[in-house]
Amino acid sequence: MKYGFKLVCALGFVAVAGMSTSVADGHFDNAIKARKAVMTLYAWNLGQLGAMAKGEIEYNAEAAEIAAENIRILATMNNGAVWPQGSDSTALPGKTRAKVEAWTTYPESAEISKTLATAAIAMSEAAGTGLEGVRANIGAIGGACKECHTKFRESE
Ligand code: HEC
Repeated sequence: MKYGFKLVCALGFVAVAGMSTSVADGHFDNAIKARKAVMTLYAWNLGQLGAMAKGEIEYNAEAAEIAAENIRILATMNNGAVWPQGSDSTALPGKTRAKVEAWTTYPESAEISKTLATAAIAMSEAAGTGLEGVRANIGAIGGACKECHTKFRESE
């Protein structure tokens, strides 16, 4: 998501120019669905590592490495197109929890994505080496998720 929001801003202007009632017609439904799917995959994989870190499930080097690698891949993919301009919770209340500030304060959100990518790369290198490797890196990942949610996601 490094270039994501920027790409989207460029696409967004195109969208705004051609937009009339299309938003109300569910124009952004698939993009919103897709980004929620990315988030769900983050949560699933981070949940595996979190459970190991807390001792709720036994540490398994292979499983830890896979989960960490999945997070790394997700965090370094360019999913900018799933964040089109105008697909925020002010424009589409009830459909999305993405605050309009994610776009209006750009590139702040992208900076957090970058922090997440860095943390995910570190985790992918450490997760298979032992439980301590998972424990040492999980805080940085969770911290990036949390920071973005605090700033740019509506509470439920
Ligand atoms: C760059 C900002 C950002 C980062 C980083 C981020 N999220 Fe999110 N997340 C959001 C936004 C914005 C939403 C709301 C999306 C929507 O409703 O359209 C969201 C939604 C979610 C959801 C709810 C999905 C749904 O079905 O409604 C989960 C779960 C989630 N994030 C988990 C995570 C996890 C775990 C991480 C870290 C590995 C993470 N997120 C990192 C911004 C971020």
